[in-house]
Amino acid sequence: MKTEVKLYTNGKDKNIRVYVCKDYETLSKKAATIFASQVNLKPESVLGLATGSSPIGMYKELIKMNKAGEVDFSKVSSFNLDEYYPLEETNEQSYRYFMNQNLFKDINIDISRTHVPNGNAADIEKEAADYDKAVADAGGIDLQVLGIGGNGHIGFNEPDSTFVLPTHVVNLKEDTIKANSRFFATIDDVPKRAISMGIGTIFAARSILLVASGKGKAEAIKATLEGNPDPMVPASVLKLHSNVYFVIDEEAASLLEEYKPE
Ligand code: GLP
Repeated sequence: MKTEVKLYTNGKDKNIRVYVCKDYETLSKKAATIFASQVNLKPESVLGLATGSSPIGMYKELIKMNKAGEVDFSKVSSFNLDEYYPLEETNEQSYRYFMNQNLFKDINIDISRTHVPNGNAADIEKEAADYDKAVADAGGIDLQVLGIGGNGHIGFNEPDSTFVLPTHVVNLKEDTIKANSRFFATIDDVPKRAISMGIGTIFAARSILLVASGKGKAEAIKATLEGNPDPMVPASVLKLHSNVYFVIDEEAASLLEEYKPE
C-alpha cells in the first residue's frame, strides 16, 4: 500500500493529514483503516456518519473487516450528519434507508444505537434541538466522517453557513438539488430542504475524516485546503480543527499547489 498512498503536507498545518490515494479503492481501504482504528482503540466510540457516494467504498471495506473479525461494532453508537426534509425514513432516497442498506444491515451494530435525524418529524425544530442533545448525552462524537459537495458543502451546510450553527433546517441550493437529483426519478422529487448537523456540531467532533474522489471535487478540495477559512466554502472551517484526516484520490488532489507529497 506504501506507494499507493502518499502523505501530502504544506509544511505548516500539522493538524491536517492529507492522504492522496492512487484510486477510489485505495482511498476506501485507507479510510476504512483509520475508521477501524478508532473503533479498535475505543470500542464504545461515538461515530459521526455520512451518506453520498464517497464513503460507500469505505463502508464496503468496513463490512469485510467486520466479517473477518478485524473490527467489532457491537458497542459503538452512531449519529448521521443529515436527512432530507420532509421525507419518510422508509423512502428509498432517505439517508436512513441508505445507511441501513450500505452499512448497518451487514455489520454487528446495535441498530437502536444508530441515529439519523428524523426528516418526517412533526416539530422539526424540536427534532434538531433534540438531536444535538442526544449527541451531547452520548459524550460527543469521537470520529466524524464527511464527504464534500462540489460547492464545498459538508453535511448539508451550504455556502454562506454560519460556522457556529448547531443542528438546524436548511434550504438546499440549486446546484445541490441538481447534483442529488441523480438518485431521484425527477428533479422535482428532490426535497428542497434538509435537517443537518451544523458546522458547530461537526467541528465539535474530536477527530474528522473527510473522503473525496474525482475531478468534480478538485476545486472544493483546493479551496478547502489552500484558501483561508471562509463561510462560502463550508469545509474550509476544517483548517482550524486540531485533528483532521483528508483521504482523497489523485483526481480530487489534482489542483493542489501548496500541498505536496512529503
Ligand atoms: C450530499 C450529502 C453530503 C455529501 C455530498 C457529496 O449533499 N448531504 O453529506 O458529502 O452530498 O456527495 P457524494 O459523495 O455523492 O459526492
